[in-house]
Amino acid sequence: MKKISAISALALVSATGAFADDLNVVCSTEQAWCDMMVSAFEEKHPDIDVQMVRKSTGETLAQVRAEAGNPKIDVWWGGTGDPHLVAAEEGLSQPSGVSTDGLLDWAKNMSDISDKKTVGIYAGALAIAYNADVLEEKNIAPPACWSDLEDERFKGEIQVANPNSSGTAYTELATFVQLFGEDEAFVKLASIGENVNSYTKSGSAPSKAAARGETGVSIGFMHDMVKLATQGFPLIPVAPCEGTGYEVGAVSIINGARNFDGAKKWVEFALSADIQSRSPEVGVFAVPSNASAKVAPQSPDLETIKLIDYDFATYGSSATRGRLLERWDAEVGSKAN
Ligand code: G6P
Repeated sequence: MKKISAISALALVSATGAFADDLNVVCSTEQAWCDMMVSAFEEKHPDIDVQMVRKSTGETLAQVRAEAGNPKIDVWWGGTGDPHLVAAEEGLSQPSGVSTDGLLDWAKNMSDISDKKTVGIYAGALAIAYNADVLEEKNIAPPACWSDLEDERFKGEIQVANPNSSGTAYTELATFVQLFGEDEAFVKLASIGENVNSYTKSGSAPSKAAARGETGVSIGFMHDMVKLATQGFPLIPVAPCEGTGYEVGAVSIINGARNFDGAKKWVEFALSADIQSRSPEVGVFAVPSNASAKVAPQSPDLETIKLIDYDFATYGSSATRGRLLERWDAEVGSKAN
């Protein structure tokens, strides 16, 4: 009798979700930052046990869509903002209720255009990088502009991510469309594609490969390139002459999250100046969204880069994303070497 009631108590516990103090987080930033956030959060909230996996932004959107109605994820932290906006529009995320007071305008904008279902945590500019040793050895003049990447001197030398899985590469696709107009953007992406040696899953992989000399040139976020350069790699970031786009990294609570309270605490924590000021400890030089957070001296100064007025509402919409990715698959990805 005793045994039976213990078992039914256990069944009741799991049915009512009493293990809710587990918080399931998907992290779409760099692994070292994901790990630091988890340990700092658990230190502040010892009653919450965080289960974290790292996944690229587009991959996470695919998982969130697949799990709609029965999500395994409570909170999606980091990664480029456009897929977070798509999730919001598709009803896959929900407002956290956390105040955006004290955040910079570009971070609040994400909240404003998503009915408060996502919010900005950091920003970073898209850039080109090259390995100075590799290019010098091969006698290749470094690139200064996006258009340079179409030149045949870069044949087999460029690495960039796939925009289906990577938010970084989707930012690049949307940046080209905004800079050059859609048709011209696809012509350029296809001709750069002639020089691409591989489309990676993750957005920061190409710059890591360029740092190690496995490829001459990469496209990615400038703060990731700066991190590698400060580690001593001969990697030179370039702000393209035509201008460039940028990301607003975001955080969202998934609709139907089993641990909403824990997720809300995570969002509060992620937006706080204290924790944002600590990201340089793990080599993260993205610009923090909390106006009171310390900005590392190594952080690229976005004021000095020719940035486009990136249209997050348009390029973070489900229809635009779907259409551009379909066109990328047909006109660029399908021609991959
Ligand atoms: C790196 C950058 C982040 C960016 C993320 C996107 O981690 O540091 O600023 O948000 O890449 O990753 P993804 O793999 O989706 O391109």
